[in-house]
Amino acid sequence: MRTTLSVIKADVGSIGGHIKPSAKLKETVERFVREKGKKLLLDCYVSSTGDDIALLMTHQHGVDSPKIHELAWDAFMAGTKVAKEQGLYGAGQDLLKDAFSGNVRGLGPGSCEMEFEERPNEPFVFFAADKTDPGAYNLPLYLSFADPMHCAGLLLSPKMAKGFSFTIMDVNHTEGDRVIELNAPEELYDIACLLRDNERFVVESVHSRAGNEIGAVVSTSRLHNIAGTYTGKDDPVCLVRVQGGFPATGEILSPYRIGHYVAGTMRGSHNGPLMPVKLNSAISFFDGPPSVTGAAFCVHAGKLTEPVDLFDHPFWDWVRNNVSQKAAEIRQQGFSGPAMLPYSELEYGGVVEKMGQLDTRFIVRKQAQAAGNGRKKTAA
Ligand code: 13P
Ligand code: 13P
Ligand code: MG
Ligand code: MG
Repeated sequence: MRTTLSVIKADVGSIGGHIKPSAKLKETVERFVREKGKKLLLDCYVSSTGDDIALLMTHQHGVDSPKIHELAWDAFMAGTKVAKEQGLYGAGQDLLKDAFSGNVRGLGPGSCEMEFEERPNEPFVFFAADKTDPGAYNLPLYLSFADPMHCAGLLLSPKMAKGFSFTIMDVNHTEGDRVIELNAPEELYDIACLLRDNERFVVESVHSRAGNEIGAVVSTSRLHNIAGTYTGKDDPVCLVRVQGGFPATGEILSPYRIGHYVAGTMRGSHNGPLMPVKLNSAISFFDGPPSVTGAAFCVHAGKLTEPVDLFDHPFWDWVRNNVSQKAAEIRQQGFSGPAMLPYSELEYGGVVEKMGQLDTRFIVRKQAQAAGNGRKKTAA
């Protein structure tokens, strides 16, 4: 049977700042999707990660189905109404346009979808992140699908010996989808060369080269590029099929022990380590740390099992302690250097405005004055 997994997510309001949606908001969105999607969907799972609500939906309408996208949009609109009634912070934050027009892409909510012929058993992992952007998945996907240091299957499983192809998007190109397809292992250095730059080049999908089967998809939209001004961080979602010809679940999880530094956290303008957290976790220290949840499922004839919370295990408590340490370390240096994002990525206009004002006060010294540098204060 051909099944489509669609994840559509948005932040439409949260309690106490950018922390966590209210129970009533989540319930409203879930009830809406279940009731209005009764005929459309085979199943769904609604969860939150920090202040973002994600709808994982199974159906047979393929990717980019206007009906599915509209259902999600309307559910988030219904949620926004409740968020306003409750006086939640950032009510309707990610609904950037007034009306739905065929697809949520470009309207604010993030989405990632895949369609495949179900295997007799079809395990997959659903990741959702808060306080970061889609490039946060670059390193984990590279390590899981292309590096035998994390994926033993690349050495041990004949099904994986041909490697994987990476479709990478240039998210700075806003006039259309600018993408490149590169093959691992032959083009590993080229892949690394692009994925180095998490803000510009983002893994959109990964396919197996053995059967050209979809293995992973990421939501690639950047609110930074849609809205023009800061409205929130992208807080990306990702779906990964596991086992068989794909990495095992543990190989997909392996890179998350690193807690690599990603863009996001406070005001979307800093770098912080990505912390694997339990499902439905809130956000805390310095509007962070950037967080990721992982839910494992099997899907059969479009029906989902209950989720297994992949980061709810004693091992990840140890990882969280280490990641907390990394978060505290980089925060020691406040605004300086790599603690804050470069000028082009700053999500608030304040620094940009300030730079404009300061620019008019700069002077270029004349030669004679330059010689006196350090001795005499230069007159303005
Ligand atoms: P599969 O052969 O089903 O992918 O299992 C591999 C495995 O044992 C994972 O650790
Ligand atoms: P969100 O994108 O999660 O709403 O966070 C925005 C922010 O500025 C946090 O400080
Ligand atoms: Mg928010
Ligand atoms: Mg968020």
